[in-house]
Amino acid sequence: MTHTNSQPLASAELPVLAMSDEAFWQDIYTPLNEAREAAPFARTTDGALYALRLDDVEHVLKDPRFVAADLLAMMGMGSGPVWEWWQRLMFSQSGEAHTRLRSLVSRAFTVRKIESMRPRIAAIAAELLEPAFETGELDPMRGLAHQLPAEVMSELLGIPKADREAFKGWTTDLGLAFGAAFDPEVRVRVEQALVDLEAYVHALVEARRSSPGDDLLSELLVAEEAGDRLSVQELVDLIENLMFAGHDTTRGALGVSFALLADFPEQMQLVTKDLSLIPPLVEEILRYEAITMSTARMTAVDIDFAGYRIDAGTTVGACLPSASRDPRRFDAPDSFNVRRVDVRPPTFGYGAHFCLGAALARVEMQETMRLLLTRCSAVHLEAKPQWVPFAHIRRFGQLPVTLELR
Ligand code: HEM
Repeated sequence: MTHTNSQPLASAELPVLAMSDEAFWQDIYTPLNEAREAAPFARTTDGALYALRLDDVEHVLKDPRFVAADLLAMMGMGSGPVWEWWQRLMFSQSGEAHTRLRSLVSRAFTVRKIESMRPRIAAIAAELLEPAFETGELDPMRGLAHQLPAEVMSELLGIPKADREAFKGWTTDLGLAFGAAFDPEVRVRVEQALVDLEAYVHALVEARRSSPGDDLLSELLVAEEAGDRLSVQELVDLIENLMFAGHDTTRGALGVSFALLADFPEQMQLVTKDLSLIPPLVEEILRYEAITMSTARMTAVDIDFAGYRIDAGTTVGACLPSASRDPRRFDAPDSFNVRRVDVRPPTFGYGAHFCLGAALARVEMQETMRLLLTRCSAVHLEAKPQWVPFAHIRRFGQLPVTLELR
C-alpha cells in the first residue's frame, strides 16, 4: 500500500493523559481541553490512543475502515471470562455479524415503542422519588439513579419482581469491568457476577420458552423460532448486554443530572418556567458531562487520517467528553446552557454502533427531570461530589442532595 507524507501516528509525539492517576478523574476537562487544543490525538500513560476533536471522533466512528475494537483490552482487561463474554457482544462485532444481531433487537427498541413506555417509566421514577419528596433528602446514586434504569430494563425484559435485586447487583458489578483492570479484587467480583448472571438468564430463557409473555425476551425468542439463527447463548449474551449497557450508563447520567441542576440554578429556573425545554436540558446534560469516557474502533487497513498515518490493527479511542467540549463545534463549550441550538451530543456515539438505547435513556432522564422540576424549586449538594476514579463509564460515588420542595 502506498502512503502520503503523513506522519506515522505510532511514533508521533502526542499530549499525554494521566488516566492512571486518581486525580485525573476528578477534573477531566482541564487536561482534555489542553490536549485537544495541542493535537488531534493524545496517548494515555498506559499507551491507549484517543481522538479528541469532534469531527475526528465522528469520522472514526462512521468510517467503515475503522472496525469493532477491543474496548476492554484497551482498558487493561485483555483476557479471562469477562473479556471472552465481551468479544461475543454486538459492540464487538463488525459488518454482517453486527447487522444481524443489531437488527434482531432493534425491532424492540424503536423510538415508538420506547415512547409507549414513557408513562410507565414516569410512574416508576415517581415511585422511587416519593420518599425524597417527603423528606427532602436523597442520594440518587444509591436510590433513583441506580434503581430506575435497572427497574425499567427489568420490566422491559420481563424479569420477575422477586429476582430484581439480585439482577441489579450482578449488572452493577459487571459494570465495574470498566475500571476493574486496576484492581484484582474487583475483577473477581466482576467475574462472579458474570457467572451468576449467565446461570440466571439461561434459566429465564428456558422458562420463557415454555411460557412466553409480552416482554422483550419473549419477542426475541419468537424471532428466533421464526427462522432466525439466534442461538440460546446469543440470546443470553444479548439480554446481559442490554442490562449491562443500559444500567451503568444511565445511572451515571441520572446522577450527574441532579448535580448539574444544583450547580446551575438559573438554568433550572429557566426550564421550570418552560417545561418544553426539558428535552434540550437533557441533551445539554448529556453534552456537558459525557458519561462514557470513550468508545473505540480498530483500523482494518492502513489509514491516512487527520495528518497521520495509522497502521492497520491500531485501536483508536473516541474520547467523548473531549469531543463534547470541542469549541470547533460548540459555542462556549464549557458553559452549561439549555438554550443551545447546536446540541447533538456525541455521548451516544455515531454510525453503525450508535447507542441502541439512546431513546430509552433520554426518556428516563426527561421524566426524572420533569418530576424534579415540578416538585422542587431547588437542588442543593451536601458536599462537592467525587467521581469514581478509573470508571470509564463515569459516575459519582455518592451524591447526597437536599431538595427544596414546593
Ligand atoms: C445515558 C445513557 C447511555 C449512554 C451515555 C450510552 C452510550 C453509549 C455509547 C457511547 C455507545 C457506543 C457507540 C459507538 O461506539 O458508536 C453505546 C452503545 C450501546 N448502547 Fe448505550 N448508552 C446509554 C444507554 C443505553 C441504554 C439504556 C441501553 C439499553 C437498552 C444501551 C444499549 C447499548 C447497546 C446495546 C450498544 C451497542 C450498540 C452496537 O454495538 O450496535 N445504552 N452506548
